[in-house]
Amino acid sequence: MRKIGILGGTFNPIHNGHLALAKAAMEQYDLEEVWLMPSKLPPHKSHFAMLSEEHRLAMTKLAAQSDSGFSASDFELRREGLTFTADTLELLTKEYPDVKFYFIVGGDSLIKFKSWRRPERILELATLLGAGRAGHEEKQVIQAVDSLRNRYPGAEVNTVLLPDYPVSSSEIRQAFYTGKQDKVKKYLPDSVWNYLKEHRLYAQITFAELDTEMASCLPRKRYLHSVAVAHLAAAYAVSMGLQPERALIAGILHDCAKAYSDEQLVADCDKYSLPVTEVERRNGFLLHGKLGSFYARTKYFINDEEILSAISYHTTGRPGMTVLEKVVFLADYLEPFRTQPTEPELNTIRKIAFQDMDKAVYLALKNTLRYLSESGQEMDMTTAETYEEYRAKYEN
Ligand SMILES: [Fe+2]
Ligand SMILES: [Fe+2]
Repeated sequence: MRKIGILGGTFNPIHNGHLALAKAAMEQYDLEEVWLMPSKLPPHKSHFAMLSEEHRLAMTKLAAQSDSGFSASDFELRREGLTFTADTLELLTKEYPDVKFYFIVGGDSLIKFKSWRRPERILELATLLGAGRAGHEEKQVIQAVDSLRNRYPGAEVNTVLLPDYPVSSSEIRQAFYTGKQDKVKKYLPDSVWNYLKEHRLYAQITFAELDTEMASCLPRKRYLHSVAVAHLAAAYAVSMGLQPERALIAGILHDCAKAYSDEQLVADCDKYSLPVTEVERRNGFLLHGKLGSFYARTKYFINDEEILSAISYHTTGRPGMTVLEKVVFLADYLEPFRTQPTEPELNTIRKIAFQDMDKAVYLALKNTLRYLSESGQEMDMTTAETYEEYRAKYEN
């Protein structure tokens, strides 16, 4: 029987680490070939920054040329609907009855293997190879293999250990988005590198991409608010002599962490070691700007410090705000869907905003502080400090 390995993955993008793993499996298990199989993505889920199937397959084909034992397979991509490994293996064993398949998975997937769809069927149809980096994950992978062998007696489960591999696909994307792609060039086959450059992939996140992402992950009302903020911020930016793009991006992302509960916001800030004041700990929603800015950097690849700061301070303002920060702060306060605290006041400030932005900021802060004190809510110190700065200008 021929022995063939299958390495699946989103391959977004495929890199030398994947190829090293394929090679290690091939050598350790004397495989004739390894098929690199880009996976289909579940529908109705957000796949931010995911390249199309065509691009992922094209790069996989290029990468496969680096070794005569590798080939790219579109077996999963060309199937309709959701694809599960058990189904894939059933179809493969039917189509290739003379082949013994070795299914290669990363250590993380191996640990979660029990919760896959029909795990026992997968183990009937293939040998499972759990990959781990020697040293780092070796112990965990060996443990996971042992526990699967105990759970499924007779199943063939084994390890593929490979030298430490220092990069992941998401780190590669991040490097491209932030203009540091030269640093990750060495982790990609030349042909894949050239393909990414030629097609300008991962070049820069656009407003349109972020808009699509927010539409899928924010509740409808919050999304409409964000769109309104983005467009109003762009209009303010232009009225102040700025280009609209950065205001659009800050506006569409400003509430990206707003859908979380107060407890979740505090927990996430603690988890990522973001500083939390006592007032913020008691009023978790105050953290959605700070955490939103963190997500803008880490999930949406924004590295423009001023955009990040505009997101951070969109609710409270801060002393010494830049024009972009004021633009986002005001747009959030004045966008047309907003009716709080009361419409007559908002309409007055709406008229002023295009003529005297600082005065509009001053009035918005004043209103906010009055609203908080009248409704018995706690006030953020940054808001109070920002207000003092503007009060000095407008009340003397
Ligand atoms: Fe907000
Ligand atoms: Fe908002």
